Amino acid sequence: MNSVVQGIGIGLPEGRLTNSDLERMVETSDEWIVQRTGIKERRIAADHETTSHFATIALNNALEDAGVDPKDLDLIIVGTVTGDMPFPSVSCLVQEAVGATNAGAMDVGAACAGFIYSLATAHGMIVSGHAKLVAVVGADALTKFVDFTDRQTCVLFGDGAGAVILRAEENTDRGLIATSLRSDGSGAKFIHNQYGGSRFPMSRGFEDGASPYIYMAGKETYRFAVKAMGDACCEVLKKAGLSSDQVDLFVPHQANERIIDSATERIGLRPERVYKNVDRFGNMSGASIPVALYEAVQDGRLQEGMVVMTVGFGAGLVWGANLIRW
Ligand SMILES: CC(C)(COP(=O)(O)OP(=O)(O)OC[C@H]1O[C@@H](n2cnc3c(N)ncnc32)[C@H](O)[C@@H]1OP(=O)(O)O)[C@@H](O)C(=O)NCCC(=O)NCCS
Repeated sequence: MNSVVQGIGIGLPEGRLTNSDLERMVETSDEWIVQRTGIKERRIAADHETTSHFATIALNNALEDAGVDPKDLDLIIVGTVTGDMPFPSVSCLVQEAVGATNAGAMDVGAACAGFIYSLATAHGMIVSGHAKLVAVVGADALTKFVDFTDRQTCVLFGDGAGAVILRAEENTDRGLIATSLRSDGSGAKFIHNQYGGSRFPMSRGFEDGASPYIYMAGKETYRFAVKAMGDACCEVLKKAGLSSDQVDLFVPHQANERIIDSATERIGLRPERVYKNVDRFGNMSGASIPVALYEAVQDGRLQEGMVVMTVGFGAGLVWGANLIRW
């Protein structure tokens, strides 16, 4: 028994924020942003657009691509850290919006590794026989939590969602080959958004001194990211008994082009096998990997039967990789 990707879809904001827009907001330059991050523009949610809004569009598209009736879904898992509200979960809002009347629903809070963790969880439910058809969504609207006066963070993030439909299949060589999930909570100090949780509840106002914005220690996060990506990929390849030469396409979390390039070199992958779209979207957190997978399918760079390695890392700290025969 394996879990096979049967359909894929995305949901993106129409709104775009370019580097020249940012030049008018903070002291920065297109040259600096491109050189340090590779990002040229990102999609940005309008005030009325929420994470569940994009997740719903992505899931509807994936259902259509898969030819699946939403009533046949057993479970919806959404990897997100930017819920519409602390509760209920984004997955419940999406369940109602797509009409998945027979599905369970849960969110997985693994930040930029949200899609990696959600897909691995879905796979576990499928191979253990508890579900046959599972929707896995990666969705975030991080720009809602960005301080647009902080030039170090405001240039990095974008919003969006991507979704896949996983189906239980027997006697197939397609599906998840191996997974690696890791965490280190001692790194919570490096990236966080403290406000609005039980430590600093909204009801107490701002006296606590907590910031409502994303905090990130850039250099520490950078170092962690390069190491985490390399380690997770090496581990997942080792578990599968494959070498990096046998990976047809590498789809990493799209946080920063320099991080992707350093990790690619560390793993020993050929640059032409790496999928990058960070220039057009920035870091969309849980949405980065499924949106990149979707584009790779559309471009013909990812085809049925190919081995694709996905890897994510983020606040937690968490990181992980999934090796999939598409
Ligand atoms: C944020 C990041 C791009 C900064 O790049 P960097 O090369 O480390 O830059 P530094 O922080 O050393 O800053 C260098 C200088 O540029 C300045 N700078 C920072 N942001 C700037 C911006 N947007 N425009 C212009 N200058 C900027 C700094 O103030 C600093 O100036 P100084 O030397 O006068 O003090 C980089 O650290 C990074 O990508 N970190 C990981 C982020 C990430 O992936 N987060 C998500 C994880 S899921």
